[in-house]
Amino acid sequence: MHRYRTHYSTEIKPEDDGKEVRVAGWVQDIRNLGSIAFLILRDRKGTLQVTLFKKEHPFFEKVVSLPRESVVSIMGKCKANEKVRNGYEIIPEEIEILSTSEKPLPLGVVDKVGVEFDTRLDNRFIDLRKPEVQAIFKIRDVVIDTAREFLREEGFIEVHTPKIVASCSEGGTNLFEIKYFDRKAFLSQSPQLYKQMLMATGLDRVFEIAWYFRAEEHNTRRHLNESTAIDVEMAFISNEEDVMHILELLVQNIWKRVKECEEELSLLGKDIKIPNIPFPRMKYTDLVEMLKERGMEVTWGDDFGSREEREIGKIMEEKGNEMYFITEYPLDCKPFYTMPKDDNLSRSFDLGCKGMEIASGSQRIHDVNLLMERLKANGLNPKDFEDYLKAFRYGMPPHGGFGLGIERLLMALLDLANIRECILFPRDRTRLHP
Ligand code: 4AD
Ligand code: MG
Repeated sequence: MHRYRTHYSTEIKPEDDGKEVRVAGWVQDIRNLGSIAFLILRDRKGTLQVTLFKKEHPFFEKVVSLPRESVVSIMGKCKANEKVRNGYEIIPEEIEILSTSEKPLPLGVVDKVGVEFDTRLDNRFIDLRKPEVQAIFKIRDVVIDTAREFLREEGFIEVHTPKIVASCSEGGTNLFEIKYFDRKAFLSQSPQLYKQMLMATGLDRVFEIAWYFRAEEHNTRRHLNESTAIDVEMAFISNEEDVMHILELLVQNIWKRVKECEEELSLLGKDIKIPNIPFPRMKYTDLVEMLKERGMEVTWGDDFGSREEREIGKIMEEKGNEMYFITEYPLDCKPFYTMPKDDNLSRSFDLGCKGMEIASGSQRIHDVNLLMERLKANGLNPKDFEDYLKAFRYGMPPHGGFGLGIERLLMALLDLANIRECILFPRDRTRLHP
């Protein structure tokens, strides 16, 4: 095994002409012309050409017969060559075969033939060898890094709350039940109850990169059964506007940072438009009227479905906005912890992007009596929420927060048609493997 760090394809330049380099990666392709062969080696940064001569290289036959996608480590000399794509080639001195691939490949890495999405997901480890697929996850990393950096700068600390829980927060129908020794428990739908309880501790501003487990029966392009989110909760707010402001700043920062990922964006053929702040605020009630004017049948009091969401996206696009808040939903559309506002409305908001919800948030109720009233109004039993309610009895400041779906955000940011593109190993109604 070559013991030293290898060079990445992008680190080698024609100026390194004559220098010794070590490279390692996957054999993407081999073109054998008889006396000369070209091996295209792929690493995490790109590809490079390794040129082999039958007369000079004793390992020639062994290498040209390697199946595609085998892994090799090569020590050789860089040689400037204008005819090669990168402006240089590698003339090998030593080739070590680290892993030989089986044949045929379940999925091609560079083949241009279209394959079913399910075939890609069934063979995700190979699918992820494609630069354009990797680009999504490199951008995902930048999204999360930006969120962490921005939120810490704003005084938030990162926390982790239990994922095995005893009660629901977002409504009881879509919970995964699990056996917890001799008791019943659930997988957490959201850190909601815990992040609120933390507001009673003096930690004031917290965030969590959280897992959501939701037993949604429907298989759609925008739902997963296991998804991730950036969850935020903040205390001593005046109202939901304080929360919305943090959210719009966070999203604008993410869009700005991702715009700098030129290489990844060009692989995805994507241009990013940075949204201006403040994002427009559209009241639920006004949107219902606008949808009616456009001939849609909507009833005040019903939550917007994906059809309405798409139409709202069009309305906003006509005004030149990709990003917008929908505010003041009817109280009954929102979970029990949402702060009421006059006229059966609530201090809630959704963040929409191009016709799809990417975040939901609100000011929360901090008065324990009102909270118990709202639990009952939602058909829930306050007894099941005693741990949570206790945190409201001994000094709870006004607070609010939001949950921003990471896969939804990426889907909107990169205009991807299916949410499954945005998570490594998706879990949906039918998929539990790999
Ligand atoms: O709108 P949701 O259900 O809100 C909450 O969970 C609240 N506790 C948030 C809060 O702080 N008030 O979920 C928040 C976001 C959604 O807007 C969406 O982006 C994402 O999480 N999300 C999902 N993404 C993919 N598949 C699913 N099944 C999702 N459920 C929620
Ligand atoms: Mg929501």
